[in-house]
Amino acid sequence: MDTNQDKKKVVLSGIRATGNLHLGNYYGALNKFVRMQDDYDCRFFIADLHALTTHPDPAMLHANVKSILAEYLAAGLDPEKNILYVQSDVPEISEMYLLMNMHAGIGELMRTASFKDKARKALGIAKPGAGADDDDIEKEIIGNNHNKSVNAGLLTYPTLMAVDILIHHADFVPVGKDQEQHLELTRRFGRRFNSFYKTDYFSEPVNFNFGGQAVKVPGLDGSGKMGKSEGNCIYLIDDEKTLRKKVMRAVTDQGPQEPNSTPTEPIQNLFTLMELVSDPSTLEHFKQAYADCSIRYGDLKKQLAEDILKVTLPIRERILDLRDNDEYLSKVVRRGAEQAREVAAKTLREVREIMGIRKF
Ligand code: TYM
Repeated sequence: MDTNQDKKKVVLSGIRATGNLHLGNYYGALNKFVRMQDDYDCRFFIADLHALTTHPDPAMLHANVKSILAEYLAAGLDPEKNILYVQSDVPEISEMYLLMNMHAGIGELMRTASFKDKARKALGIAKPGAGADDDDIEKEIIGNNHNKSVNAGLLTYPTLMAVDILIHHADFVPVGKDQEQHLELTRRFGRRFNSFYKTDYFSEPVNFNFGGQAVKVPGLDGSGKMGKSEGNCIYLIDDEKTLRKKVMRAVTDQGPQEPNSTPTEPIQNLFTLMELVSDPSTLEHFKQAYADCSIRYGDLKKQLAEDILKVTLPIRERILDLRDNDEYLSKVVRRGAEQAREVAAKTLREVREIMGIRKF
């Protein structure tokens, strides 16, 4: 490890253990982790406690943790350069989560977009259309909450995420656009702690995008972001045939109706994916073809599949190599847990002290 480690900015991020990683996770998060590992003091983890909020099959949870670890390593994260660990291996996080919850308001947690989304899904409530009153949805969530799947862990999800970040005193938190509200809450909880205990203990972590905008990777179904629960994903582990089939089936439209028209959402989504994986000249070629109405969506999709495969196939091969190497995987996270616990124990000790918890 670099001897200048202490001077480097601290980077912290994680991914929930809920299944294989897709292109959204890759371009929103993992690819940034890999690109940051040489220049920052990086800590990356697998959020298995967060995964519990949506009640995974206990038989699957460990397999999911393992596959994400294999995917981290396959994408190029080097355990010699980063601290790589599993969230539940660091019990200090759970204790600090309890302490932090004393300063998290139920109202602000209930207004978090991700909570409303997950609660809506669990209760089978449709998303409010334009003009719908979001307060009604909140009332419905409270009123209908006999359903235990809208659990307190789901509500306090942002507190746990804030603790993941604050326990490392992270400066940068590379995440996709969908996590920015959680990051805002993290800053708010840190500020509140500081002002309540009259300290400047926590600083304010920010997203990191190499100077660009936060990324939102679209799905293949014409609208919205790529997400595990949307069934619109391209996975890093997809084999060539599956991946080509998915891309060739992506939703399109009937083609541009007049020159220089603005692309419809499904086509813009394909362009956005192309922007991530293809040469700028390739994207320009298809945009031009759209503008002069000569575009053939079949050609666009074929090229897109080709360029995605160039990114994912080498990663897929390494995942297959790594994922059954239990000895190596457990060595990586055992060491990572030790390193992460050292940091976490120090923060927890100091937080307890600030809050007035003292030993006899
Ligand atoms: P999770 O597991 O949902 O997603 C992991 C990362 O992938 C990004 N992502 C996307 N980015 C762009 N476009 C998409 N379509 C897309 N889909 C997913 C997410 O933004 C995220 O960066 N709460 C977090 C996990 C977490 C965490 C943390 C992250 C727990 N504690 C502390 C950072 C720091 C989550 O559910 O991510």
